[in-house]
Amino acid sequence: MGAEEWVPDRPTLPRLRAAVQECRGCELYRDATQGVMGDGSPDADLVLLGEQPGDQEDRAGEPFVGPAGQVLDDALDDAGLARDRVFLTNVVKHFRWSGTRGKRRIHQSPKQQHVAACRPWLEAELRLLRPRGVVLLGGTAGKALYGPSFKVGECRGRRLAWPEDRPVDVPPAWVLATTHPSAVLRARDQRQATYDGLVADLRLAVELLGQSAE
Ligand code: URA
Ligand code: SF4
Repeated sequence: MGAEEWVPDRPTLPRLRAAVQECRGCELYRDATQGVMGDGSPDADLVLLGEQPGDQEDRAGEPFVGPAGQVLDDALDDAGLARDRVFLTNVVKHFRWSGTRGKRRIHQSPKQQHVAACRPWLEAELRLLRPRGVVLLGGTAGKALYGPSFKVGECRGRRLAWPEDRPVDVPPAWVLATTHPSAVLRARDQRQATYDGLVADLRLAVELLGQSAE
């Protein structure tokens, strides 16, 4: 299991998008409509890393276009982060789901083995983008980089170092962890506080980008 053999030798972002449609690196392609690679400016200095495409992303072929994406858009706006400074992507490129509620297919978090199998796609994106910073949206993204004991609550709000056991040619200068925007949607009475926390973390990313530009 693993996506290596489907990743093009000389990738570009458009080539990755085409090639991921052929990937059979794990079984998730079977129940998904299409693979969803990241989206954003190739010159972005910040990568925002989510979990996997959801129901709407799977249909649209674009990351973060559903309800969680709306929350993220608002939070980026409130944090003063222009969309053309960020690149949005996920650690897993096909939608994992099981069962339906109405017309909506019910999201299931990817397993560790799916994250591991899909890693070559993310690595290819990072090699091309060479971002200065990476923001981890939620626990799945955190575990993908730092291993299964990672907890957002213990790490958020401070600058983390790129993990040594995930070598990339040009490691990002810093990593920040924050809550996943879908947690805002799930948090009933804590919704505003959860949203404010997400915005505060994104503001910190803006600050760190300012510092690492100097
Ligand atoms: N949640 C994610 O983690 N990624 C998406 O693209 C959409 C929802
Ligand atoms: Fe390949 Fe990743 Fe899709 Fe699995 S989830 S088939 S590894 S692109």
